[in-house]
Amino acid sequence: MILLTGGAGYVGSHVCVALLDAGLDVVAVDNLSNSNKASLERVQAICGRSLVFRQADICDEEAIYQILRAYEVTAVIHLAGFKAVGESTAQPMSYYENNVVGTMRLVSAMTRASVKTLVFSSSATVYGRPTYLPLDEKHPVGPTNPYGRTKHFIEEILMDLHGSDDEWRIGILRYFNPVGAHESGLIGEDPLGVPNNLLPFVAQVAIGKRDKLHIWGGDYDTPDGTGVRDFIHVVDLASGHLSALSHLKQPGVLTVNLGTGTGCSVLEVVRTFEAASGRPIPYVISERRIGDVATCFADPSCAERLWGWKSSRSLTQMCTDHWRWQMNNPNGYRGT
Ligand code: UFG
Repeated sequence: MILLTGGAGYVGSHVCVALLDAGLDVVAVDNLSNSNKASLERVQAICGRSLVFRQADICDEEAIYQILRAYEVTAVIHLAGFKAVGESTAQPMSYYENNVVGTMRLVSAMTRASVKTLVFSSSATVYGRPTYLPLDEKHPVGPTNPYGRTKHFIEEILMDLHGSDDEWRIGILRYFNPVGAHESGLIGEDPLGVPNNLLPFVAQVAIGKRDKLHIWGGDYDTPDGTGVRDFIHVVDLASGHLSALSHLKQPGVLTVNLGTGTGCSVLEVVRTFEAASGRPIPYVISERRIGDVATCFADPSCAERLWGWKSSRSLTQMCTDHWRWQMNNPNGYRGT
């Protein structure tokens, strides 16, 4: 049995599908602070298999310990965490509490239950401002906001954990920009309020919920002046977790990028989304967003070398799938 923290969230629901489709049993744990249980009902509909859901907080060590024991969990995929960069600057302590302390409680529960295999959801944000591209795992780290620092500190804590007890098998996955949705259109990203991230905002413009997109900066040193990112289909990202899990056979800590290796500009995303949806995306070029970098994309070769994993879905596929999810669920899971 695999325990998934944050199992009802955007990435979590897609990882649940990957695990169930691979024949693994799943207990999804989520406190539902930024997710909806309906996602897991849909996961089960997609896979034709059931999973266990337990509503619990990773900060509640005893609850997690009981779940680990009750379901004879052998490995944990840890996705639960706060993830909004701007909010983390306004409320750093709640980010450190939830993300860093929450991970420490989870690890304590795992230690007590002798479960020592862990896949952790980190982020390319740990690299901070790139000094060279593409970003490989040896690039120096230097996150520029509290959210990024929580991910960086957790990575360090996990290294120390392994240093103190070399039975631990730990995979640290540094995500680039997850977008898209499962091709069924049943699960996808369901942001609360105004989306911070590009794809959910573009999708809401396409469907008419917002009148235009603000492109944050048109004067970057990039081919068309807009920011360049490594957008990765969430289904590819989810399969990366399965690859990590199935290759964590030896004790150790492996830190691996999950990206495509290709940078796409904001304008390319807008045009591709217009083509995929058949809807216009009105936009204005606005001031740069504080903290943004011009260009960020991965060297994803380590994941391929170690685990035979690489992404396969194109930007068109990402936009098509994101649009299907948006069309079928204009109010996310709240309509269900
Ligand atoms: N953008 C816009 N308008 C918007 C939203 C975004 O122009 O309304 C632009 C941004 O300026 C950037 C690009 O679209 O150039 C992507 O922005 P996102 O907010 O979607 O993603 P980021 O690359 O800023 O951040 C993402 C995650 C973070 C993570 C970071 C790591 O959202 O959690 O990648 O690199 F920390």
